[in-house]
Amino acid sequence: MQEFVVTSHGAPKWDAIRTMASVEVTNFDGMQHYPDWMTYALIEAATKELDEPAEQILGAFGEYWVLYTAKEGWEDLLKVSGSDFVSLLQNLDLLHARISRSYPELKPPAFQCTDRQPGSLLLHYRSDRAGLTPFVVGLVKGVGKMFQTDVRVKVVSEKSQGADHDVFHVEYEPHD
Ligand code: HEM
Repeated sequence: MQEFVVTSHGAPKWDAIRTMASVEVTNFDGMQHYPDWMTYALIEAATKELDEPAEQILGAFGEYWVLYTAKEGWEDLLKVSGSDFVSLLQNLDLLHARISRSYPELKPPAFQCTDRQPGSLLLHYRSDRAGLTPFVVGLVKGVGKMFQTDVRVKVVSEKSQGADHDVFHVEYEPHD
């Protein structure tokens, strides 16, 4: 998130967000675990400092995360987890399970693909964490860009609206 804000809005903006969120860490270590309150406080402060809704910030951050953070730091893991858009979506649990082996304290989300048609599927997202629905939309769009696949994502069911879990209708240019 730091890298995303510094790249898109400059270091002073990030400092303002970090200070508003009462986060004292100045150099985040990608290998370390940080408490969830920091994430939520940073998102909240970012909505104020950037004057954008959380939905927009999380969506843009999700895309950035896949295309830069993951692609730069975790390219091998991404490569073995899927050779195209759909196979990567189908292997998200395996991908997170591989990371959990080295970091047992993780509480990764769970994904499932159902109702597969040529060019569309339903992606189910289950997590103990709230508020990350727009982040998932951005991540899925980022995965599409990574594979040069045109992707449209629509939230069709939301836990925050009383559903059991989030469901996304994902349409993509059929490459399979
Ligand atoms: C190489 C690529 C990836 C790595 C290394 C990675 C790693 C991680 C890690 C370490 C967490 C934090 C878990 C925790 O602190 O308990 C996480 C969370 C998450 N990941 Fe991934 N991930 C990758 C790709 C993806 C992709 C492609 C998606 C979705 C399309 C995804 C969806 C999520 C979501 C939504 C969360 C938020 C946590 C939650 O919902 O509870 N990840 N991931």
